[in-house]
Amino acid sequence: MLKRTTVAAFAKRKRENEKIVMITAYDAPTAAAAADAGIDILLVGDSLAPTVLGYRNTLPVTMEQMLHHAAAVRRGAPGSFVVFDLPFMSYQESLEKALHNAGRALKEADADAVKLEGGAEAAPLIEALVGAGIPVMAHVGLLPQRVQTAGGYRIQGRTPEAAQRVLADARAVEAAGAFAVVLECIPSELGKTVTESLNIPTIGIGSGMDCSGQVQVMNDVIGLFESAPKHAKRYAEVGRIVREALSSYASEVRGGVFPDDEHSFQ
Ligand code: KIV
Repeated sequence: MLKRTTVAAFAKRKRENEKIVMITAYDAPTAAAAADAGIDILLVGDSLAPTVLGYRNTLPVTMEQMLHHAAAVRRGAPGSFVVFDLPFMSYQESLEKALHNAGRALKEADADAVKLEGGAEAAPLIEALVGAGIPVMAHVGLLPQRVQTAGGYRIQGRTPEAAQRVLADARAVEAAGAFAVVLECIPSELGKTVTESLNIPTIGIGSGMDCSGQVQVMNDVIGLFESAPKHAKRYAEVGRIVREALSSYASEVRGGVFPDDEHSFQ
């Protein structure tokens, strides 16, 4: 039996000032690569919808699709700490439905925790999930599941009032029992203030260097798409490498170069 990290380890990491590294993963091979690279947390993000399934945003992805991919991530990285992102409308409708779906993430995909978007208004739900034994990673700041009401993806917390709201949300999810909180797209200074105001770790994405850890979307970091958000750094150009490999394959098949003797059976 592999011994996995527990939520308590992440609080300790914050106390000891050791950065936490999280990345999204959606399938077994990339999960295995992330585990080999020593990444601390694999997030099966609802970004599955735009990054892998070809949807316009995160809203259409279903519980069944998330479970399917989370189970693959678990098979690829059996010893990793895996967080299951609860998809849009899997937890907003009722407490019962939220408990049921979060429970499925742990029981059917063997996830270690769930993540959900929302601040103070999500506190009762977080309390109920944690009370039922389900670790919760909260998510405040920019909330992609609310893109329709927000009218787009905008940096949050830029005015003093908005910054106070982000801070109050982060405090509320901590008080409700979340073991960590994602801070998405807030000014760096606010990321620092929130991180210093909480005991639980903050995991930033576009929220500056002072967060307790960072999360990025796998496809952005490996350069699978032509464009990526400002906060994402491309550590490789995998998209270009894949295109080049496929065009060499096509031209070798068409030119009668592949398969050669080396790749044929006698
Ligand atoms: O789904 C996702 O990729 C996320 C990260 C942006 C934190 O929620």
